[in-house]
Amino acid sequence: MVFCHPLPTSAAIAALYRVFYDDFLSRIPEPAAIAFGQSMLRWLPLDRLGVLGLDDPRLATSLGGVPLPNPLILAAMYFDPVILGRAMGLGFGAVTTKTITPAPRPGHPAPNLVRMRTAAGPGLVNCNGFHNPGLEAFRDAIARVPHRVPLIVSVAGDSAEEYVTMARALAPLGDLVELNVSSPNTKLVYAWSSRPQELRAMLEAVRAAVSPPVIVKLSPDFADVNEREIIPAALEAGLTIVNYGNTRRIDEPRLSQGFGGLSGPEIFAATLENLCRTRRRFGDALEIVATGGVDAPDKAVTLLREGARAVGYFTGFVTRGPMLTRRILEALRREGLPARDR
Ligand SMILES: Cc1cc2nc3c(=O)[nH]c(=O)nc-3n(C[C@H](O)[C@H](O)[C@H](O)COP(=O)(O)O)c2cc1C
Repeated sequence: MVFCHPLPTSAAIAALYRVFYDDFLSRIPEPAAIAFGQSMLRWLPLDRLGVLGLDDPRLATSLGGVPLPNPLILAAMYFDPVILGRAMGLGFGAVTTKTITPAPRPGHPAPNLVRMRTAAGPGLVNCNGFHNPGLEAFRDAIARVPHRVPLIVSVAGDSAEEYVTMARALAPLGDLVELNVSSPNTKLVYAWSSRPQELRAMLEAVRAAVSPPVIVKLSPDFADVNEREIIPAALEAGLTIVNYGNTRRIDEPRLSQGFGGLSGPEIFAATLENLCRTRRRFGDALEIVATGGVDAPDKAVTLLREGARAVGYFTGFVTRGPMLTRRILEALRREGLPARDR
């Protein structure tokens, strides 16, 4: 075990953020909270504070052969290049873009994001519907973002051909490509899990089209199909990384669609179960990014101990603040993770 001194202020700053979230951010209307949070990220030079990251070669790992300074990944949510660039300086080992589609999409009408207090802690339910600027505008914007850490470009489309087009167009601008076949808010993407044969052909076509490593992002709602059909198809196509996974579909009458994707600590137990089962079944052939419900250092530690190659999170970034990254990295260093022998 490696001994280290945590930054004395990291727990204090995290506690302050908790008060800020509980007493302010979680009480104002959701659209105002989103606008406020994104403005803070855009305008405050948090990445220059130098206290959120932890440079230590012992934390380094790799994903699909791409070196990461540490195994923490900001999960897909942001497309603004200023925010993505900023996030690269907040301690993450890699940053994922929002899922980009061929044409711009306005997303689903408001309300498309609501908070949900669960027994496990604060979560979110969204039916964002892939609000994004579309391929052309995004390609121009993202080309200007320097890769301080690897960038994972997330893509989706209406058909296998569109996934290939998207992957081919954005792969040169990312270090890895993530195929979103799992967001529950649009039929377009969620339906892939009910068409595993078509999905197999799509994965093969993408593999043939792009050279950076490709991640397949899975839904926690389709464990059977994932493990019986999708992961074997990915492995046979030569795609050896999965992100397990996306939000869990639930009914939510407060949202414009009447349903959405639940994220946050309520889904952590499923993330851990899916990781452990998948790891047992597929062994070292598969690199697993475990995403879903990480909002505390011990959860990231558990996932890495159970064999995750990397750990993704988004909701914890909002509810626990940017200091969570530093606190997780300190815990990983104390625990001697990621293990060196993998
Ligand atoms: C508002 C919102 C937007 C999201 N947008 C995307 C997206 O564009 N593509 C995607 O693959 N996942 C998206 N996700 C899912 C997250 O990347 C992540 O997989 C999920 O929230 C579970 O992790 P968490 O519990 O740490 O948030 C989104 C989640 C939220 C809350």
